[in-house]
Amino acid sequence: MPSSGYTYLCEFGVLEEGVPRRFEVEGVPVSLVLTEKQVFAIHDTCSHSAVSLSEGEVDGCTVECWLHGSRFDLRTGEALDPPASRPVPVYAVQIEDGGVYARVVPRSER
Ligand code: FES
Repeated sequence: MPSSGYTYLCEFGVLEEGVPRRFEVEGVPVSLVLTEKQVFAIHDTCSHSAVSLSEGEVDGCTVECWLHGSRFDLRTGEALDPPASRPVPVYAVQIEDGGVYARVVPRSER
């Protein structure tokens, strides 16, 4: 069993490397991204405007917002290029028995 506070999102086997998948956990949009090394969970709404980051391009440890091209670091949520200047939240991930779980903390509880 994953640690408490983690929500089951999907089986690991359905994730494709470099192809983000969008989920909603208690109203919070989350994008799961499998890279060569790891699975990351990042808030799915760009910090610049209300655009889904899971529709963007993954490159290494970054995802690029499709609207204006800001890239976000999947490890930290940091905005790497303008016009976005604020980070997006990132969430802890656990993989247990082939299932992917994320600890999604709503903004109000952080
Ligand atoms: S909406 Fe994402 S960079 Fe502008």
